[in-house]
Amino acid sequence: MSILDIITKKRDKKNLTKEEIDFFIKGYTNNEITDYQAAALIMAIFINGMTDEELYNLTFSMANSGEILDLSEFGENVVDKHSTGGVGDKVSIVLLPIIASFGIPVAKMSGRGLGFTGGTVDKLESIPGYNTSISIEEFKQNVHKTGISMIGQTLNLAPADKKIYSLRDSISCVDDVSLIASSIMSKKIAAGANKIVLEVTYGKGAFMKNIEDARVLANKMETLGKYANLDVESVFTPMDEPLGYAIGNTLEIIEAINFLKNISIPDDLKNAVLEIGSKMIKLAGKGDDLEKIKNEIIEKIESGKAFDKFKEMVQTQGGDISYLEDVNKFEKAKYIIDIKADKSGTIKEINAENIGKLACYLGAGRIKKEDKIDMSVGIIIHKKVGEIINNGEILATIHLNDISKKDIAIETIKHIIKVD
Ligand code: URA
Repeated sequence: MSILDIITKKRDKKNLTKEEIDFFIKGYTNNEITDYQAAALIMAIFINGMTDEELYNLTFSMANSGEILDLSEFGENVVDKHSTGGVGDKVSIVLLPIIASFGIPVAKMSGRGLGFTGGTVDKLESIPGYNTSISIEEFKQNVHKTGISMIGQTLNLAPADKKIYSLRDSISCVDDVSLIASSIMSKKIAAGANKIVLEVTYGKGAFMKNIEDARVLANKMETLGKYANLDVESVFTPMDEPLGYAIGNTLEIIEAINFLKNISIPDDLKNAVLEIGSKMIKLAGKGDDLEKIKNEIIEKIESGKAFDKFKEMVQTQGGDISYLEDVNKFEKAKYIIDIKADKSGTIKEINAENIGKLACYLGAGRIKKEDKIDMSVGIIIHKKVGEIINNGEILATIHLNDISKKDIAIETIKHIIKVD
């Protein structure tokens, strides 16, 4: 078997066998297949699609490319969540400490930024000292000790997806239902939880642009979950405008901290946290009444228990919690520029994808897979769609380190935030 034959087959719209998919996944994981060969095959899959059988084989082959975590020592209901990605999406960072504060074990493996969307791991790494790449043993120890650990995709769990994920990011092959479904479910199969809530985002700031495509994606992931004996439920989160007000790694961590401290809680972020959180807690067997669970979640925030759990997690993971106590300690970008509205009106649109792309341009995301992220840059929006703004009021604040990007950034923001 040769990788060239496999690429040729997919390029010519033929279906790949299980053996061919396994050959590719094994070879790419072991560095026997090059990035450019893998890129050619992924692009051919992106263009020509996969059958359900190919999707199943790809998902399980990626899941089996490393270790399959056994989390049964934490009980029979180990819950997890995964988002299909969004702009300003800090739901995991806020929600998982809340879940852990209910006494439900959280062992979470998250991803990095992809395309115009940010990633939980990059955001967590903006906390000085926070180590997202610990060993699986340490990961489990942390869950035993504090009830929660949030880490990146370590080398041993779904390593094939880790390589393919960052490759897709750098060859514009992200927004494909089958590739997303296999990427997410391979990680979930490997990550060991048996009850999973999927946050399927849709709209301008998501990979799925409408609810119909989001349903197709959810359906594919739920079917893959069934094959793997996982209980999978989906929650659909609209993502036309960014979630919350902050976009950019440190800025989003600060927004998440202020949420957990009950200082400021954006409505859309709160809704996502309550919807996903109540389903997770129900799946964990800690209640049936979703409305009652939502009230209990609010109580965990108001009592400070959720924030305490977050602090405990950060400390155990090596992070400096003095930054959580005083968010002013976070390193700021060199230039912080307010952009004012030049007319009064209603905010009609804040295209989340374009805001995400602007954040990437400022350095918050990667263009090439080896790019280093600039933690401090990003955008704060000051109004949400539907709100009134007066002439001269601040529309958005840009945080940047490269002053040569200032003029383009200001112009772009004025185009993105539509006032009428
Ligand atoms: N999240 C993932 O884990 N994989 C994707 O492909 C997209 C979003």
